[in-house]
Amino acid sequence: MEVAEEIQVSEGQIAVHWREEEYFYPPATFISQANAADPAIFERFSEEHFPECFKEYADLLDWDAYWHTTLDTSNPPFWKWFVGGRLNACFNCVDRHLATSHDKAAFIWVPEPEDQETKAITYQELYRRVNEFAALLRDFGGVKAGDRVTFHLPMVPELPVAMLACARLGVIHSEVFGGFSGAACGGRIADSESRILVTMDSYYREGKLLDHKVKADEALAVAHDRGFDVEKVLVWRRHPGQYSSETPMVDGRDFFVDELMDDYREKLVEPVSMPAEAPLFLMYTSGTTGQPKGCQHSTGGYLSYVAGTSKYYQDIHPEDTYWCFADIGWITGHSYIVYGPLALGTTSVMYEGVPTYPDPGRPWRIAERLGVNIFHTAPTTIRMLRKVGPDEPAKYDYRFKHMTTVGEPIEPDVWRWYHEAVGKGEAVIVDTWWQTENGGFLGSTLPALQPMKPGSCGPGVLGIYPVIYDEQGEVVEAGSGRAGNICIRNPWPGIFQGIWGQDERFVQTYYEKYCRNKESKDWRDWPYFAGDGAVQAADGYFRILGRVDDVINVAGHRLGTKELESATITVDEIAEAAAVPVIDEIRGRAVEMYVALKPGVDANSDIEQKVQKAIETEIGKIARPKNVWIVPDMPKTRSGKIMRRVIAGISNFADVGDITTLANPEIVDEIREHVQSEKVARGETPRELSPEEMEEIKAFGRAE
Ligand code: PRX
Repeated sequence: MEVAEEIQVSEGQIAVHWREEEYFYPPATFISQANAADPAIFERFSEEHFPECFKEYADLLDWDAYWHTTLDTSNPPFWKWFVGGRLNACFNCVDRHLATSHDKAAFIWVPEPEDQETKAITYQELYRRVNEFAALLRDFGGVKAGDRVTFHLPMVPELPVAMLACARLGVIHSEVFGGFSGAACGGRIADSESRILVTMDSYYREGKLLDHKVKADEALAVAHDRGFDVEKVLVWRRHPGQYSSETPMVDGRDFFVDELMDDYREKLVEPVSMPAEAPLFLMYTSGTTGQPKGCQHSTGGYLSYVAGTSKYYQDIHPEDTYWCFADIGWITGHSYIVYGPLALGTTSVMYEGVPTYPDPGRPWRIAERLGVNIFHTAPTTIRMLRKVGPDEPAKYDYRFKHMTTVGEPIEPDVWRWYHEAVGKGEAVIVDTWWQTENGGFLGSTLPALQPMKPGSCGPGVLGIYPVIYDEQGEVVEAGSGRAGNICIRNPWPGIFQGIWGQDERFVQTYYEKYCRNKESKDWRDWPYFAGDGAVQAADGYFRILGRVDDVINVAGHRLGTKELESATITVDEIAEAAAVPVIDEIRGRAVEMYVALKPGVDANSDIEQKVQKAIETEIGKIARPKNVWIVPDMPKTRSGKIMRRVIAGISNFADVGDITTLANPEIVDEIREHVQSEKVARGETPRELSPEEMEEIKAFGRAE
């Protein structure tokens, strides 16, 4: 009964009223060179040609053995793509380009300090380095196909080298974003049972050389507590030969890669021919409950999908200089810095540091100097660069033919600045909607063939057939003005194969809600539930409204409320904690944490510091809350559930909705008074919220 009371509105019933935006059209200069410029492509990828249409993507790769079954649906929803096919991902990204492009840069790496040398790594050099590290992993690390290796590496060339070395051996890599804490890394090591951790002593961030090796020791301790011991820690040095960490090396466990490497110089390793369905990597992401989920991506399906979408949606040609300004520690970097661009044999730029270091002109200087013509980043970066340097792009002589936005909804106003100022009114923009689970894009415009609409990602991409369902599973029609849950009706090659070691959670999280018949072997009965709210306009374009589960998207990164709350209650004095999103001018959303103290504990400012520290330790700096509010009690239902939407409303100066079902409604005014007066004093009153933002806040916490 309580639950029913809490579900005030379903997504399907929410009416969303935003202004329809105008279309923007690609310039003729773009269309004339685009990889996909003939509308016949839509017919080739129509539902009638599914799943065979994806042969076009798979044919971008070199296969050791061709597949006999394009899509095997015999064990839903564990789809298998290109069954019977064999290939090696590293061979496809490196070896096969040597004949034509050995002296071309595969990566151009830009260190953060501007006085350090930018390094071009040719395909030949990448080949050499990948082979040497693969030999080291195999002969010194003792790993073989199917084993897992965890990396905790920053944005340095050693990261793609390590990924490709694993791929060469058929070893499953699991990169943990460098900014995550040692504890977060340790949890992922234990979950994936990686006997080897590859890390680096230090890296540059905002002008400082950060000690990173310290996190390896924390990670191993946490993994040990969970019953798993790492055997070897391979430590790269940011400045070879010079150790830049305060943390001692542990004898017999920690090894400097540059020292070990002497034994592996010029060694070559045969690429291991892997089944298309062999896992290529794990990428952990947050969900509604508990520990992060290890999304398992395949070799053949994944690589085909990122190659195909890089070609048609990123419009990558081998002669382009492409810069995706993401971190390889996230799925965007895996798919669209490493695997997609390299599969197509292009030059991919990697930048170590923050966009605004040492000044907001930095990205545009890099673009000018390297001749970048395709640029890819997230709304958070765009907002930040706009705020601190709106006139900077005009000062530099670069020309982008194409730009991408990814990871969060982009406000139309921010989109227009991106188009006008960064793209100089010439670049096409693709707003690509997708997720860690998906391998590659799900929603976007095909840049030469479909006009852009600010704030909307566009229709489903080639071979992806999205639909919006309401809570009851009824289709919410395009143009109805109603929001609902966006789902994908069909499987696609880039879809993850499952959650590492948690088959049931996989089925339950992504398929249970809208599965029509659990016995069915027909993919049509198994729509994929993406966990995002969306609206489809009459023209078929989707506008993504944000997560419908308890995930907060901070600067394009997913943070689970449960993870934040578990980290917070590690602080002794705290009895209860609740995390809510607050609209943030730069990061899209920020986290605010509400805490109630144990009886007899005095509220003091130490608590806030302790909470910040606990979150930094358990998750990482990116998760630090904007504010920590100590409250006398949480607003709760009569069954004792915390009503997150009520405190989310308070934090955002928005309507808190119906509070008649609360057991303690009087607490609402008390909390509001305290929080909002403090926010006013700190100058944190938000701008007026859009209708979508208001709906999001109102709906927060509904997933429970
Ligand atoms: O809510 C959607 C949002 O980011 C979520 C996926 O986050 P993650 O797995 O970290 O992957 C980010 C990069 C692919 C989605 O569920 N999201 C992603 N792209 C967009 C977006 N929201 C709006 N517009 C987008 N283009």
